Amino acid sequence: MENKKKNDIFDEEGMFVQKEFSDEFLEGLMYHTYDFVKLMTYYKCAMMEIETKFNVLNEEFSLQYDRQPISTIKTRLKKNFSIFKKMNKKHLPITIYNMENYLDDIAGVRVVCSFVDDVYMLAEALLKQDDVTLIEKKDYIENPKENGYRSLHLIVSIPIFLAHEKRIMKVEIQLRTIAMDFWASLEHQLRYKKDINFTDEMSAELNACAQASADLDIRMAKLRKQCMPKDIDI
Ligand code: GTP
Ligand code: MG
Repeated sequence: MENKKKNDIFDEEGMFVQKEFSDEFLEGLMYHTYDFVKLMTYYKCAMMEIETKFNVLNEEFSLQYDRQPISTIKTRLKKNFSIFKKMNKKHLPITIYNMENYLDDIAGVRVVCSFVDDVYMLAEALLKQDDVTLIEKKDYIENPKENGYRSLHLIVSIPIFLAHEKRIMKVEIQLRTIAMDFWASLEHQLRYKKDINFTDEMSAELNACAQASADLDIRMAKLRKQCMPKDIDI
């Protein structure tokens, strides 16, 4: 526990208020903890699979066209506390079943691309692979969010192969350009300053910044057409 808080469960030392537990409770806790850690490991493996798939596509493309469509790939596993908070928000009991069935973003992969075309080319190349199944697609590039947010979101499922079983796991993928990522990263920082009242004027300015970065993407795409006509029709 980061902040030692006194409440019904923990004392001011961050220790359980209740000092003695039944064997059944301890056994249940042990199994649940083990199952939880196991599930998180499976998500981590699925995330690694997706990351590798994008790295392979990047290698192949750079060999063929002598440039990299991917600038960076970031992966993140949702923190335990965020998982529990999201389950609470959805009024769901915290169980392994509910986590697997009602949360789509425990494993997340963010692919930051050079150009807008690269976003769609990579998404298409990934979805063509026969072990990848598309569950949901949200195109916030075609239809930006009201605040100006742009990205292509995919929820996919892929198998992971373990020693004795095959598990199908879900991964959330966000594909965006460097310009979209720049805006989203800064907007995220601003939004989390909760003590500041975001006025309509500030929201409009943020939206104008999103538009400016989208314009930059268009201008860079035009330059690319002039410099690299060969890799346009992928
Ligand atoms: P949640 O998963 O509960 O957030 O709802 P949802 O599935 O409807 O969300 P959506 O697919 O629209 O977005 C999921 C993720 O995209 C978020 O967790 C963020 O990482 C990112 N995202 C979405 N909207 C914004 C935004 O306005 N600003 C920024 N910076 N990131 C966003
Ligand atoms: Mg989501």
